[in-house]
Formats: sequence, C-alpha cells, structure tokens
Amino acid sequence: MTAVLIAFASREGQTRKICVHAARKLEGAGCTTQLIDLTLGAPDTYVERCDAAIVAGSVHRGRMDQTLMSFLMRNGAVLGRVPSAFISVSLSAASVDKDARSAVDEITRQLLHDVGWQPDEVVHVAGAVEMEALNLLERCAVHAVMQHRGVEIESQGRTELTNWDTVDAFVTGLLERVPAHQSPAAELRDVAE
Ligand SMILES: Cc1cc2nc3c(=O)[nH]c(=O)nc-3n(C[C@H](O)[C@H](O)[C@H](O)COP(=O)(O)O)c2cc1C
Repeated sequence: MTAVLIAFASREGQTRKICVHAARKLEGAGCTTQLIDLTLGAPDTYVERCDAAIVAGSVHRGRMDQTLMSFLMRNGAVLGRVPSAFISVSLSAASVDKDARSAVDEITRQLLHDVGWQPDEVVHVAGAVEMEALNLLERCAVHAVMQHRGVEIESQGRTELTNWDTVDAFVTGLLERVPAHQSPAAELRDVAE
C-alpha cells in the first residue's frame, strides 16, 4: 500500500480540513495516510517511511507558519526523494486580481527557496475565514487586505472559498506520480492472478 505523509500547519482550521479531505480521498484510492499537525510539535518519525508527501500551510499577514518552515528545514532532503506537493492556503488564492494571486505565489516560492525544498507541485487553494473567531484587530486586517485584493468575504459568520474540486484534482494528480501506487482495482487483479 502506498503510504502518504500529510504534514500541515493550520491556525484557524481550514488547512487541516483540506488535508483531512485529501487524506479521505487518498484512503479511498487504497493508500494509507499519516496526518501530522506541525503546530502540535509532532515527531518526524514517519517522514522516512512515506512513499509520497503533501505539506500544507496557510498565509497570515503575508507569512507562513514558523513550524512549517522548521519542519521543511529538518526534512526537505528526505522529502525530496519521494513524489511531493505543497498546498498553499490563502484567501488571495480566490482573488480575481492576478497581482494578488502572484503575491501569495511569491510568498510560497520564497518559503520553499528559503528552506531549500522543491516539491514536484505547488497548488494554491482558497481558504476560509470565520469572523467570530478573530479579534477586532484581525477582523479589520482581514477585511482591509481582502477588500484591497478583490476577495469578497462576509462581515459576519463564516466564508469558505475553498474549491473542493481543485483539491480532488490535485490528489488525483499526485497519485498518478507515485510509482508504487496501484488503484484498489489493480491490487485486486494482482491478487487474483
Ligand atoms: C489574521 C489573518 C491574517 C491573514 N492574512 C492573509 C494574507 O496576508 N494573505 C492572504 O491571502 N490570506 C490571509 N489570511 C487568510 C488565511 O490565509 C485563510 O483564512 C486561511 O484559510 C487560513 O488557514 P487556516 O485556517 O488553516 O489557518 C489571513 C487570515 C487571518 C485570520
């Protein structure tokens, strides 16, 4: 069975939700998955044993989480040996403004450059925001930045901009790049032969 590592840093929970969704889809395709929440300081033990890896993080005030950076600095070389992908979660990913999307792409590329890890694929996924979970300062900051970037968010309640078809297509693409992976149908065929 193909073992897929999914390491993520999520502050408000949307990156976690995206990773759990990807894990369920991978499991449905016959993989085993190991979800690691980097913000909990989980050990790196599973990294050496995976056949493919997904690393995911979200953008806050123009930056990614420090725990993500530390994880990639420690494990980038090992992750470079297997098919890999990075999921960058932000609200700018939903912007109609090309410059806003380019800005968040630059943040992501700079992070990957700084840690010296080049995944096979970088995918930008739009996130979500829950106004009630933010303090007044954060609400104002998110509103101002998103208005400027042409992303419409509700002034109250939860706005989820994640395109789940994009996440599904990304998972399918990753599976196609994993040499060891066989679909459940193919595995069943092998058993019968
Ligand atoms: C305080 C704060 C700052 C944010 N800053 C940015 C930003 O600079 N650029 C951006 O595109 N999205 C920004 N976002 C949106 C987050 O990337 C988005 O809410 C994402 O879904 C968060 O992922 P998480 O729930 O996994 O932490 C910000 C959100 C918050 C709450």
